Amino acid sequence: MRLAKHLAHAGIASRRASEVLIREGRVSIDGKIVTDPARDVDGSERIAFDDELLTPLSGKRVVYAVHKPAGVVSTAHDTHGRAKVTDLVESDHRLYPVGRLDADSTGLILLTDDGDLAQKLTHPSYEVPKTYRVKVRELPVSEGSLRRMREGLVLEDGRTAPANVRQTRPGILEITIHEGKKHQVKRMCEAIGHPVVSLTRIAIGPLRLGDLAVGGVRRLSAAEVQRLRDAAEQEHPPAG
Ligand code: URA
Repeated sequence: MRLAKHLAHAGIASRRASEVLIREGRVSIDGKIVTDPARDVDGSERIAFDDELLTPLSGKRVVYAVHKPAGVVSTAHDTHGRAKVTDLVESDHRLYPVGRLDADSTGLILLTDDGDLAQKLTHPSYEVPKTYRVKVRELPVSEGSLRRMREGLVLEDGRTAPANVRQTRPGILEITIHEGKKHQVKRMCEAIGHPVVSLTRIAIGPLRLGDLAVGGVRRLSAAEVQRLRDAAEQEHPPAG
């Protein structure tokens, strides 16, 4: 098995985040730093992350929904000592966030030790729709501007795919996108001349933030996890 996959299975980070950690030189095999995420391992090796030996987790995986407050970073490992979203959950499992929300954004983020689910929910070809409620400046927001966002606009890293956009109150937009370009929602709003004042993610696929309080945490039921998995597979059915 590839080293990055092994780390994901041990609950260190998603497969892609594990690749970065390996390249950063934070993983060793039998005492030697390894920087190749594709290195083949069979589990008989002594594999350590930040000098701590991995104990592959057996048994049940868990998924938590968290209402991320502003000012908290959505990473499991922060080198600047900032408050992390993983600090909000007490669990025996080694949890990491699925995808990102900007530090100043709030709303729904998932934490899990299920590498397979995390991979499905964040892989570009599986990307489940995510809905954001944003407050923007420079009112009024014209119907023409909303149409531009719905149809897709050109950002510096390419054109955005069509989006669902509605204005629920003057200056409050609900935007659903299927992609995860960096700071995408903020850049889309900026592109139509309405910079974002605040941004909250209110849904990931079928899962809604609902009335979970800011800073609140809720463990998902098996049925909710299955619905998320189904949503990802519906976007991109597994081959075969
Ligand atoms: N889009 C953004 O611009 N920021 C986020 O945090 C999420 C989506």
